Amino acid sequence: MNPELGIREDVERVLIDEKVIEKRLDVMAEQIANDFPPGPILAVVLLKGALVFAADLLRRIPRPLEIECLNVASYHGGTESSGQVKFLDQHLPDVRGRHVLLLDDILDTGRTLRAVSDRLKEMGCAVVHTGVLLAKDKVRSAEVEADYVGFQIGDEFVVGYGLDFMGRYRNLPFVGVLKS
Ligand code: IMP
Ligand code: MG
Repeated sequence: MNPELGIREDVERVLIDEKVIEKRLDVMAEQIANDFPPGPILAVVLLKGALVFAADLLRRIPRPLEIECLNVASYHGGTESSGQVKFLDQHLPDVRGRHVLLLDDILDTGRTLRAVSDRLKEMGCAVVHTGVLLAKDKVRSAEVEADYVGFQIGDEFVVGYGLDFMGRYRNLPFVGVLKS
């Protein structure tokens, strides 16, 4: 029995398969490793969506690196952005003077990346570079683009490789579209 069958059955089509993601992450990791100035990198990972992407990307960066995670919520379980970004952590990491690589799963309206990078800058980061696995091809509500983008995709709702629908499908090893 295939133990993944349960969630794969809900997938209408695979948009980006595992092998393609792996190859792209090799390239992104090399760019990041070359771009950041000497000294330790501080990766700030937005939970939970960027968990899988960050785990695979950061292991490919052969440089001194620390990892912090931030819990933010912009969706409330559905497929529409709520328009508000909430910081859910009681304590935020000390980022003063650090070279930060801020990672999220997907750039959609742009509000999350905008709000978090603004907050990190207020908190005294030296530099904030942003990386996303996916960027939707659309007009953004917030003025922001990511420095590192894995893949540009159309404006449709996707799941897998960290991205969820109602908390599920994050563990699919590929990015796909659900049956409606
Ligand atoms: P933004 O603030 O609208 O750019 O949205 C970013 C957040 O919305 C991401 O961190 C995701 O958690 C979520 N999101 C946006 N689009 C999708 C999608 O297609 N699938 C799953 N989550 C999404
Ligand atoms: Mg999410």
